[in-house]
Amino acid sequence: GDKSELAGKAGAVAAVIYNNAKGSLSGTLGEPAQYHIATFGLSSEDAEPYLVDLQRGKVVNASAYIDSIVEKINTTNIIAQTKEGDAENCVMLGGHSDSVVEGPGINDDGSGSLTLLEVATQLTKYKVNNCVRFAWWAGEEEGLLGSDYYVAMLSPEENWKIRLFMDYDMLASPNYANQVYNATNAVNPTGSEELRDLYVEFYESHNQNYTFIPFDGRSDYDAFIKHGIPGGGIAAGAEGVKTKEEAEMFGGAAGKWFDPCYHQLCDTVANLNFAAWELNTKLVAHSVATYAVSFEGFPE
Ligand code: PHE
Ligand code: ZN
Ligand code: ZN
Ligand code: ZN
Repeated sequence: GDKSELAGKAGAVAAVIYNNAKGSLSGTLGEPAQYHIATFGLSSEDAEPYLVDLQRGKVVNASAYIDSIVEKINTTNIIAQTKEGDAENCVMLGGHSDSVVEGPGINDDGSGSLTLLEVATQLTKYKVNNCVRFAWWAGEEEGLLGSDYYVAMLSPEENWKIRLFMDYDMLASPNYANQVYNATNAVNPTGSEELRDLYVEFYESHNQNYTFIPFDGRSDYDAFIKHGIPGGGIAAGAEGVKTKEEAEMFGGAAGKWFDPCYHQLCDTVANLNFAAWELNTKLVAHSVATYAVSFEGFPE
C-alpha cells in the first residue's frame, strides 16, 4: 500500500481483499458515509485495507471495521496427482479456477482450467514414469492466494518432490500472441531455461512464431520460484497492446489488447480464439508428456 495512490482512487468503489489461512475472499463495498475503502498491493502480504476520510484526507487502517461488515469465505485449491509414477519426482502444472469479480473469466482462466482437465483426462490412457500433479488454484485474482498458500505449506521434503512447475493462465486470448515466459537462469536462478526451450521448440516445430514476456511474478508460478522450485509457462496475452510486428507474426489487430475483454464482463465463451487454444492445449500435453517420461537434463 502506497498511500499516495489513495487519492487517485477516491470516488471509486474498491474491492476489499482479505487473506486468510485457507485462501481468499473478496467483496465489493459501497461507500460508507464520507469514507472510501481501498486496498492496494498485488500480493497477499501487503493487501491491507484502509479507510479514507475524504473530508479530512485522513487514512486509517480499516481491518477491524471491515471485519465487522464483510462476510468471509474460504476457497479451495483442487489438487490431483497420478497414482502411478515416481512420487518423489513430480512435474506440477496449474491454472486458476477463480475469476475477477468484474466478469466470468472464461479466457482468464477458464481456458487454462479446461486445458488441464482435458490433459488430465487424456493422461489416464498412458503410463507415466514421474508423477504428474495438477492444480486448479483458488484466489489468484486476489493476489495469488491459493498458490502462495499451497507452496508456503509444503514441508522441505514435499518441496523437493516438485521438480518443476508449469503455469497455464490465459491460453485462448482472441487477439493472441504465443507468449513464453522468459525464464532465464541468469536473471532468476529458479526460472527453468530447459522448460522455456521446450516451449520454443514446440512453437518452432509447429511453424509458429513466439515472443518472450517478462517472468515477473504476475501469475501462480511466483511462489514456486520464490521457494526454489524451477518454473515457467506460456500465455496468449492479457492487457498488453499488440504491436505491428506482433500482428505480422500472429495475425490479429495491431494497437489492440491481446485480450480486449481482459478482466471485464465480456470475458465470456465468445472471448476465445479456438485455434490458439487448441495449439496451446497441445503444447500443455507435450510438456506433460515430456516430463512424465523423464527429467533428464534437469538440475538435480
Ligand atoms: N495472471 C494475470 C491474471 O490472471 C494475467 C497474466 C497472465 C499476466 C500472463 C501476465 C502474463 O490476471
Ligand atoms: Zn486475471
Ligand atoms: Zn489469470
Ligand atoms: Zn508435440
